[in-house]
Amino acid sequence: MRGFPRRRWSDPEREAGKETGLAPKPAQQDASRSALFAVANADLRTNPKKRTAGRILVVDDEAHVRTMIAATLERQGYQVMLASGGREAQDALDQDSFELILTDIVMQDGNGLALLERIHAENPNLPVIMVTAIHDISVAIDSMRRGAYDYVLKPFEREHLVATVQRALEHRQALQESRTYQQNLEQVVRARTEMLRQAMEDLEHSYDVTLEALGDALDLKDSETEGHSKRVTAYTIALARAMGISPGEIKVIARGAFLHDIGKMAIPDQILRKPGKLTPEEQGIMREHCARGYQMLRKIPFLAEAAEIVFTHQEHYDGSGYPNSLKGIAIPVGARIFAVADTLDAITSDRPYRVARTFDAARQEIIRCSGTQFDPTVVEVYLRIPNELWLELRSEITGQNRRFSTFDISPPLSAPSQ
Ligand SMILES: [Fe+2]
Repeated sequence: MRGFPRRRWSDPEREAGKETGLAPKPAQQDASRSALFAVANADLRTNPKKRTAGRILVVDDEAHVRTMIAATLERQGYQVMLASGGREAQDALDQDSFELILTDIVMQDGNGLALLERIHAENPNLPVIMVTAIHDISVAIDSMRRGAYDYVLKPFEREHLVATVQRALEHRQALQESRTYQQNLEQVVRARTEMLRQAMEDLEHSYDVTLEALGDALDLKDSETEGHSKRVTAYTIALARAMGISPGEIKVIARGAFLHDIGKMAIPDQILRKPGKLTPEEQGIMREHCARGYQMLRKIPFLAEAAEIVFTHQEHYDGSGYPNSLKGIAIPVGARIFAVADTLDAITSDRPYRVARTFDAARQEIIRCSGTQFDPTVVEVYLRIPNELWLELRSEITGQNRRFSTFDISPPLSAPSQ
């Protein structure tokens, strides 16, 4: 070990067993620093809980230095393992775990700085104290820049060594506690997020149950709407998905489609159930169902957006619809999609005054009304979908007590990006 003041280890006092094996205090040693270490050590003696016992690896190529450091630390209750150089240290690190490393800087089989860098790369939270002779001080400082926790100058005092070791172990413990705290915090955040997600899911479910209750209430009043509402919802969702509309927006559109005729609850039975043709006055009252439905839903927060579709579901693309003769894209896209789905189901379903027509017939009618009643963009998307899909959706719903929450609003795999 270069520059190590060997004479200090053969000091007569130490030979006589008065000292612990470490160098006596050099004359030039700063007295105030000694006093500080003495205070720190006294604190450890009076408050043993502050001491952090740990496994320490001591790396030095001089056996008597290793032995003396070990003896000092073992007397403090630490478990010490010894290594005579970088290679042995690496073997020890591979086989065992340590809370602290004390390493000489200049050794026969390599540089302590290289060992420091390896340790730092593999285990950045493992503190390393460099042990060095006075004239290596610049190297010691450089080692701290490279991640060493501290350095101890040789010859060292027992108190200084013990206090530095204790401080390093407490630093490591603080780092570990901070990491554990962070991990616990992350776990708590994950758990809370999951709880929140679950609560949102429950809330969504209760929304759907409320929505279904509204639909059931309308069915009691107008039994004709039951299957119609569900089929129109399924067709509207299929069209909206094909148009690349986001799942969040589709949910709103689906709710609007499902409840489009909810305002009919406010229409007198003699008009709603009249078998024959309505008079112009009755027709006027019947047309109020859009605004009545809107008024019913707009105050319900989760249905407020869907209420817009309920309000505009009878508007025509060319402005010939009601209640506000809205035109083109002034009509919400959900209502424009719904209009095609609604006609598709109306034509292909039995009515008291006529039997159902085919999906091909519906297709011809929708093409005929593209640009007048219907948005041509929606019609174009509709025409890309084969009749088999509508037949499949229709047979899925017919005869089933289909719940609103079971409709699939997820985007298709090939959905174009919005
Ligand atoms: Fe309607």
